[in-house]
Amino acid sequence: MKVVAIVGSIRKESYNMQLAKFIQKRYTEKFELEVLSLRDLPMYDQDIENEAPQTVLDFKAKVKAADAVLWITPEYNGTVPGVMVNAIDWLSRVDKVMIGKPSFMMGASMGNLGTVKAQLHLRDILFSPGINSPLLSGNDVYIGAVHTKFDTEGNLTDEGTVKFLDSVFENFLNWVKNYI
Ligand SMILES: Cc1cc2nc3c(=O)[nH]c(=O)nc-3n(C[C@H](O)[C@H](O)[C@H](O)COP(=O)(O)O)c2cc1C
Repeated sequence: MKVVAIVGSIRKESYNMQLAKFIQKRYTEKFELEVLSLRDLPMYDQDIENEAPQTVLDFKAKVKAADAVLWITPEYNGTVPGVMVNAIDWLSRVDKVMIGKPSFMMGASMGNLGTVKAQLHLRDILFSPGINSPLLSGNDVYIGAVHTKFDTEGNLTDEGTVKFLDSVFENFLNWVKNYI
């Protein structure tokens, strides 16, 4: 099974990116995870959507080829960071590559609520007509106080979180099989 991760932070030391890489390593025997970068995606512009830049076309092609998308989002000012919304806007237009493709979301923040608000908003966005992605429910992952849960090498050291991730990824893999 091939999954792409879309991470809503482009900063070098991003905890959400560390989480994506941790997941990639830990479940490498169970599924293939490609972590996509949003760093080079231009701002969505309706004037150019029919002749989109190659970076956009490449990004969309990778999403299209994946069996599922793993959304890993920080929370900025109580919502989804702009880089992630920008990516979603590109995905929702012209070739609407997300429609019908299963999604799983999670997020990490320094606050105690671990991206609850951002994920509520992201859920609504994923249900919009241009995206219309089935989303795994009942397996919410909110990683709060994330700066206390990774070591300096990017390992997730919080045992409870790791165990919880093991169980939700088991559920995710079983669920995705219904769509591929
Ligand atoms: C512009 C901005 C807004 C933020 N707003 C929130 C917020 O609403 N809730 C929260 O828990 N953390 C907030 N934070 C702190 C983030 O949780 C923290 O910077 C986190 O490390 C970002 O994720 P990253 O490490 O993947 O980049 C904010 C950070 C920035 C830079």
